[in-house]
Amino acid sequence: MTDTTQSYTGSVAEARQDNPMWSGRLAFILAASGSAVGLGNIWKFPYITGENGGGAFVMVYLLCIAAIGLPIMIAEVMIGRRGGRSPINSLRMLTQRDGLSSRWTWVGWMGILSSYLILSFYSVIGGWALSYVGKSAGGAFVGADSEAIGGMFGGLLSDPSNLMLWHSVFMALVIMIVARGLKSGMEKAINILMPLLFLLLLVMVGYALATSEFSHGVEFLFSPDFSKLTTEGVLTALGHAFFTLSLGMGVMMAYGSFLPKNVSIVKTAVTVSVVDTVVALLAGLAIFPLVFANGLEPGAGPGLIFQTLPLAFGQMTGGTLFATLFFFLLVVAAVTSAISLLEPVVEWLEEQKGISRLTGTLIGGLTIWALGILTVLSFNDWADVHPLAFIPAFEGKTFFDIFDYLTANILMPLGGLFIALFVGWFMNKQAVENELSLGHPALQSLLMFVLRFITPVLVLVVFLYNLL
Ligand code: TRP
Repeated sequence: MTDTTQSYTGSVAEARQDNPMWSGRLAFILAASGSAVGLGNIWKFPYITGENGGGAFVMVYLLCIAAIGLPIMIAEVMIGRRGGRSPINSLRMLTQRDGLSSRWTWVGWMGILSSYLILSFYSVIGGWALSYVGKSAGGAFVGADSEAIGGMFGGLLSDPSNLMLWHSVFMALVIMIVARGLKSGMEKAINILMPLLFLLLLVMVGYALATSEFSHGVEFLFSPDFSKLTTEGVLTALGHAFFTLSLGMGVMMAYGSFLPKNVSIVKTAVTVSVVDTVVALLAGLAIFPLVFANGLEPGAGPGLIFQTLPLAFGQMTGGTLFATLFFFLLVVAAVTSAISLLEPVVEWLEEQKGISRLTGTLIGGLTIWALGILTVLSFNDWADVHPLAFIPAFEGKTFFDIFDYLTANILMPLGGLFIALFVGWFMNKQAVENELSLGHPALQSLLMFVLRFITPVLVLVVFLYNLL
């Protein structure tokens, strides 16, 4: 699905023939959702919501998805389809054709850097999920109380060699898939597995519904208390909108280059955003009632899902099977997202150095794996190492915290800002109109207005406010 290499080695038309699965709208939606739905939805969304006090944060997040994320996704896909190449080359082509500054290609380079940093910690968390597949299958959660389950998670984090093992297995999986290029077998697997993940989340919500604290969970998620919202919380919500939709780094550009001309970009982007948001909200609905029913802390941080869901699995009939299936599907969701993070790095290596796909994947994958060691150590031996403590924004942050902050709160919003500005102000007007072909002039003007003014201003305001 992400085998976009051909898009610049051969002509676009050739590439399309080699990728028949890209011929339809559904294929694009599946691939883009595969990238978007991942650890961001099920692991990160609940824990940052818990840390930021719930409802008000969720409201800001939903606003960011609608007013910033969606327009930027449309813009990214548009650049990709117009350029028909890998992100850097699409930008290069569009700027050359319209006599614009070649500096716009920096947006593509920034994306490569972000992919590198994100995947390095993403793989470590994917490793947690992998290790939980094993724990579930072994029946480790049966009848366990919250203390025992908290201990299990703590034990995993405090053991660097164990974390290294799972991080390595996860990265090896991703390397293997990317090295081979994605074949339709994978595509078919995702076809079945993603809906299954959805279904299982519904089962979990059903379980949460049966706890005494469901309404408390719903209230926590949806009734806003703005006194709990900090400015850093607003920045986190903005950053997460980018992270969860895979935006601001060219991934959607790469996918867009394979989207057929007769497919509506707007409708497609809306579908992907809705699917992604629904999955995140379902995860929240499954988790917070359990948090309250078991007297746990919503602000427990990155371990939240690993300390709540196993409690439920341990008590329900068929829990061992459900737990194993759930963490397996979480791994699948994480792998499909991770693939979309490694792919641009590999493309860039191939492009720059003229090396083979296999060598490129190995070089990219192994250096990212090595960088991941810094995240592994952030949870144990180096938990007190704060390498950038001299910068106020990074005080008290471990390597993992820094990579997370730098990508979600700085690099991705900046990338998104430039993408909105490019499409809103610089890209050929006729081209934009052709690509949009909304049929509704009013809607089109609205979208352009949002891309020109609303999105850039919102991103800038949140940015500057945090700087000051
Ligand atoms: N969206 C993914 C998630 O929510 C993470 C991800 C995959 C990503 N590819 C990306 C984020 C590209 C930013 C850019 O888990």
